[in-house]
Amino acid sequence: MAAMAAMAPILDPDPSYCWVPTEIQRCSDLVDGQKWIESFEAMLKDESKETPAGARPRRSLRSTLSDGDAPHFWSSATVADAVTTRGRNEVLRKMHTPPARKVVLPNKQEVLFWFNIGPARENRDRVYVTEANCPHQGVCLLSGELKDIEDLAGPAAASAGRRGMVRCPRHNKTFDLASGESLGALNCEVLQTFPSRFQDGRFYVRVPTDQLISAQEQETDSTDVEMKDATMEPELKRPRFDQLPTPTRKHGRSLCRHTTLG
Ligand code: FES
Repeated sequence: MAAMAAMAPILDPDPSYCWVPTEIQRCSDLVDGQKWIESFEAMLKDESKETPAGARPRRSLRSTLSDGDAPHFWSSATVADAVTTRGRNEVLRKMHTPPARKVVLPNKQEVLFWFNIGPARENRDRVYVTEANCPHQGVCLLSGELKDIEDLAGPAAASAGRRGMVRCPRHNKTFDLASGESLGALNCEVLQTFPSRFQDGRFYVRVPTDQLISAQEQETDSTDVEMKDATMEPELKRPRFDQLPTPTRKHGRSLCRHTTLG
């Protein structure tokens, strides 16, 4: 980690951006998206077997106004289809591994690396980087559902026409990992995506240069404060007797005339 911190960012032809290094050195450092989906689907299948026959999916209030309203989620859903959103979310909570890997970039931006998803290409080209939190209400997308869906509007080749997506479990909004666009007419949020590339034995991510500079300035400021604190003479805890006020003598207690000693 210290070695990575010492690595310089790479300049971009556009000076308002630069490429910052990450600790990801090989694709095997990342979560395999296809394997994650397979194990999720297997758990989902087991779960649906346990769903009592005749049980109807229940629509939760907060699934409205999102693509959770789409017919394939609710309308004619059989129990099998409709291990619906709620069932899927329950299975998500039981998953042992998240669908992506979280990384904090040198500009303090938290991002997720998604891998082996979307169109069939070289492994290094199947890596996507997005912001870590849902743009709707900030839920961390490590708790989301990764999907690899057929892109009907894309190229005809079956393998090429696929899209990696993530569904946020809170309100069901689904985002494209490559473009950040959300599905559904009512969804206006866009998930921020970051270009990434493999160079000098690791993945780099493109970020705005001013964000990196301000993160570095903040780091320098906090280091200066720490060094100042470390070099300051500790305050004396003992009381300074020479500065204590001279106690004024109070009038002694005297007996009143009517006081008796009995
Ligand atoms: S927090 Fe609402 S969809 Fe993610």
